[in-house]
Amino acid sequence: KGTKVRVGAVSVEWHGLLLSRDTMPDLPDGIHWSTAPVAGGFALEMTGTAPLDRFIDSEQALRNLLRIARAAELVSYSDPKKSVFRYAGIADGRLDACIFFAPPGTALPQREWAAGFLGRDITSTARLSLLSGLAPSGEAQQGPIVCSCFSVGIETISAAIRAKNLRNVAQIGAMLRAGTNCGSCIPELKKLLAAETDRLFEAV
Ligand code: FES
Repeated sequence: KGTKVRVGAVSVEWHGLLLSRDTMPDLPDGIHWSTAPVAGGFALEMTGTAPLDRFIDSEQALRNLLRIARAAELVSYSDPKKSVFRYAGIADGRLDACIFFAPPGTALPQREWAAGFLGRDITSTARLSLLSGLAPSGEAQQGPIVCSCFSVGIETISAAIRAKNLRNVAQIGAMLRAGTNCGSCIPELKKLLAAETDRLFEAV
Protein backbone atom coordinates (compact mmCIF):
# COMPACT_ATOMS: atom_id res chain seq x y z
CA LYS A 1 0.00 0.00 0.00
CA GLY A 2 1.25 3.42 -0.75
CA THR A 3 -0.10 6.85 -0.02
CA LYS A 4 1.24 9.85 -1.78
CA VAL A 5 2.49 12.59 0.48
CA ARG A 6 3.90 15.96 -0.30
CA VAL A 7 6.76 17.16 1.87
CA GLY A 8 7.80 20.77 2.03
CA ALA A 9 9.74 23.08 4.29
CA VAL A 10 7.74 25.12 6.81
CA SER A 11 8.97 28.48 7.90
CA VAL A 12 8.38 28.82 11.64
CA GLU A 13 8.00 32.36 12.98
CA TRP A 14 7.76 31.55 16.69
CA HIS A 15 7.28 28.77 19.19
CA GLY A 16 5.33 28.83 22.41
CA LEU A 17 4.43 26.93 25.54
CA LEU A 18 1.08 27.21 27.29
CA LEU A 19 0.51 25.74 30.75
CA SER A 20 -3.01 25.73 32.06
CA ARG A 21 -5.30 24.25 34.67
CA ASP A 22 -8.28 24.70 32.34
CA THR A 23 -9.16 23.07 29.04
CA MET A 24 -7.56 23.43 25.63
CA PRO A 25 -8.18 26.78 23.96
CA ASP A 26 -9.44 26.98 20.38
CA LEU A 27 -6.50 27.49 18.09
CA PRO A 28 -6.64 29.14 14.69
CA ASP A 29 -5.33 27.52 11.49
CA GLY A 30 -1.61 27.76 10.99
CA ILE A 31 -0.68 26.69 14.53
CA HIS A 32 1.03 23.32 14.91
CA TRP A 33 0.67 21.95 18.40
CA SER A 34 1.02 19.00 20.74
CA THR A 35 -0.26 18.58 24.24
CA ALA A 36 0.76 16.56 27.29
CA PRO A 37 -0.41 16.33 30.90
CA VAL A 38 1.72 17.98 33.59
CA ALA A 39 1.29 18.15 37.34
CA GLY A 40 -1.69 20.44 37.94
CA GLY A 41 -2.93 20.72 34.35
CA PHE A 42 -1.66 20.34 30.81
CA ALA A 43 1.07 21.72 28.58
CA LEU A 44 0.52 22.81 25.01
CA GLU A 45 3.55 23.29 22.80
CA MET A 46 2.99 25.28 19.65
CA THR A 47 4.69 26.69 16.63
CA GLY A 48 3.29 29.36 14.34
CA THR A 49 4.00 30.07 10.72
CA ALA A 50 2.49 33.58 10.75
CA PRO A 51 3.83 36.55 12.73
CA LEU A 52 3.01 36.33 16.43
CA ASP A 53 1.11 39.61 16.47
CA ARG A 54 -1.51 38.04 14.20
CA PHE A 55 -2.04 35.32 16.79
CA ILE A 56 -2.17 37.54 19.86
CA ASP A 57 -3.50 40.82 18.58
CA SER A 58 -5.29 41.96 21.73
CA GLU A 59 -5.58 41.44 25.45
CA GLN A 60 -8.83 39.59 24.85
CA ALA A 61 -7.09 37.17 22.49
CA LEU A 62 -4.59 36.41 25.25
CA ARG A 63 -7.33 35.97 27.82
CA ASN A 64 -9.11 33.56 25.49
CA LEU A 65 -5.91 31.64 24.97
CA LEU A 66 -5.21 31.42 28.69
CA ARG A 67 -8.92 30.81 29.34
CA ILE A 68 -8.91 33.08 32.34
CA ALA A 69 -11.90 34.83 33.84
CA ARG A 70 -12.51 38.52 33.26
CA ALA A 71 -11.66 39.21 36.92
CA ALA A 72 -8.31 37.42 36.68
CA GLU A 73 -5.18 39.53 36.57
CA LEU A 74 -3.13 39.33 33.38
CA VAL A 75 0.56 40.05 33.98
CA SER A 76 3.18 40.20 31.27
CA TYR A 77 6.84 40.47 30.42
CA SER A 78 7.97 41.49 26.97
CA ASP A 79 11.26 42.00 25.23
CA PRO A 80 10.25 43.09 21.71
CA LYS A 81 13.86 43.34 20.53
CA LYS A 82 14.30 39.63 21.17
CA SER A 83 10.68 38.77 20.30
CA VAL A 84 10.26 37.19 23.73
CA PHE A 85 6.83 37.53 25.35
CA ARG A 86 5.46 35.94 28.51
CA TYR A 87 2.04 36.20 30.10
CA ALA A 88 0.42 34.79 33.21
CA GLY A 89 -3.19 34.73 34.37
CA ILE A 90 -3.61 34.96 38.12
CA ALA A 91 -6.92 34.54 39.92
CA ASP A 92 -7.32 34.88 43.69
CA GLY A 93 -3.54 35.02 44.00
CA ARG A 94 -3.06 31.67 42.24
CA LEU A 95 -1.64 30.90 38.83
CA ASP A 96 -4.34 29.67 36.46
CA ALA A 97 -2.34 29.67 33.24
CA CYS A 98 0.77 31.08 31.64
CA ILE A 99 2.13 31.25 28.13
CA PHE A 100 5.59 31.90 26.76
CA PHE A 101 6.63 32.85 23.23
CA ALA A 102 10.05 33.09 21.66
CA PRO A 103 11.58 32.94 18.19
CA PRO A 104 12.77 29.55 16.89
CA GLY A 105 16.13 28.72 18.46
CA THR A 106 15.45 30.73 21.63
CA ALA A 107 14.71 28.51 24.61
CA LEU A 108 11.42 28.71 26.44
CA PRO A 109 11.21 28.26 30.21
CA GLN A 110 11.47 24.61 31.18
CA ARG A 111 8.06 22.95 31.05
CA GLU A 112 8.00 21.01 34.33
CA TRP A 113 9.61 23.86 36.22
CA ALA A 114 6.96 26.34 35.09
CA ALA A 115 4.14 23.80 35.60
CA GLY A 116 5.19 23.63 39.25
CA PHE A 117 3.62 27.09 39.68
CA LEU A 118 0.17 26.04 38.41
CA GLY A 119 -2.53 26.42 41.03
CA ARG A 120 -0.06 27.72 43.57
CA ASP A 121 -0.12 31.01 45.44
CA ILE A 122 1.96 33.40 43.40
CA THR A 123 4.12 35.58 45.60
CA SER A 124 5.78 38.62 44.05
CA THR A 125 9.05 36.62 43.95
CA ALA A 126 7.36 33.69 42.20
CA ARG A 127 5.72 36.06 39.74
CA LEU A 128 9.07 37.60 38.89
CA SER A 129 10.64 34.18 38.61
CA LEU A 130 7.94 32.85 36.32
CA LEU A 131 7.96 35.80 33.97
CA SER A 132 11.73 36.12 33.87
CA GLY A 133 12.15 32.36 33.50
CA LEU A 134 14.74 32.39 36.27
CA ALA A 135 14.69 30.74 39.66
CA PRO A 136 14.66 33.19 42.58
CA SER A 137 18.19 34.05 43.70
CA GLY A 138 17.84 31.89 46.81
CA GLU A 139 17.42 28.89 44.53
CA ALA A 140 20.12 29.85 42.09
CA GLN A 141 22.67 27.68 43.82
CA GLN A 142 20.73 24.48 43.38
CA GLY A 143 22.69 23.45 40.31
CA PRO A 144 21.42 21.55 37.25
CA ILE A 145 17.92 20.17 37.69
CA VAL A 146 17.78 16.44 38.50
CA CYS A 147 14.08 16.13 39.27
CA SER A 148 12.28 18.14 36.64
CA CYS A 149 8.84 17.35 38.07
CA PHE A 150 9.65 19.40 41.15
CA SER A 151 12.61 21.46 39.88
CA VAL A 152 15.07 20.09 42.40
CA GLY A 153 18.73 20.56 41.55
CA ILE A 154 21.77 18.40 42.14
CA GLU A 155 23.29 20.70 44.77
CA THR A 156 20.07 20.81 46.79
CA ILE A 157 19.81 17.01 46.77
CA SER A 158 23.47 16.39 47.61
CA ALA A 159 23.36 18.94 50.42
CA ALA A 160 20.22 17.33 51.87
CA ILE A 161 21.78 13.84 51.73
CA ARG A 162 24.80 15.12 53.63
CA ALA A 163 23.00 17.34 56.12
CA LYS A 164 20.18 14.92 56.98
CA ASN A 165 22.10 11.70 56.45
CA LEU A 166 19.51 10.49 53.93
CA ARG A 167 19.93 6.81 53.03
CA ASN A 168 17.39 6.09 50.33
CA VAL A 169 15.19 7.55 47.61
CA ALA A 170 12.10 7.51 49.83
CA GLN A 171 13.83 9.74 52.38
CA ILE A 172 14.85 12.18 49.61
CA GLY A 173 11.25 12.20 48.38
CA ALA A 174 9.86 12.84 51.84
CA MET A 175 12.16 15.80 52.29
CA LEU A 176 12.36 17.39 48.82
CA ARG A 177 9.55 15.67 46.83
CA ALA A 178 12.17 14.71 44.24
CA GLY A 179 11.39 11.30 42.75
CA THR A 180 7.79 11.21 43.94
CA ASN A 181 6.00 11.91 40.68
CA CYS A 182 7.04 10.28 37.39
CA GLY A 183 10.07 8.58 38.94
CA SER A 184 12.34 9.14 35.96
CA CYS A 185 14.92 10.87 38.17
CA ILE A 186 15.19 7.93 40.59
CA PRO A 187 18.26 6.36 38.91
CA GLU A 188 20.00 9.74 39.22
CA LEU A 189 18.94 10.05 42.87
CA LYS A 190 20.43 6.60 43.53
CA LYS A 191 23.69 7.68 41.92
CA LEU A 192 23.79 10.76 44.15
CA LEU A 193 23.14 8.63 47.24
CA ALA A 194 25.97 6.29 46.19
CA ALA A 195 28.32 9.20 45.48
CA GLU A 196 27.68 10.73 48.89
CA THR A 197 28.20 7.35 50.60
CA ASP A 198 31.54 6.93 48.75
CA ARG A 199 32.53 10.44 49.77
CA LEU A 200 31.77 9.57 53.39
CA PHE A 201 33.94 6.44 53.33
CA GLU A 202 36.80 8.30 51.64
CA ALA A 203 36.68 10.89 54.40
CA VAL A 204 36.99 8.23 57.16
S1 FES B 1 11.66 13.87 37.37
FE1 FES B 1 9.63 13.17 37.79
S2 FES B 1 9.74 12.63 39.90
FE2 FES B 1 11.67 13.45 39.50
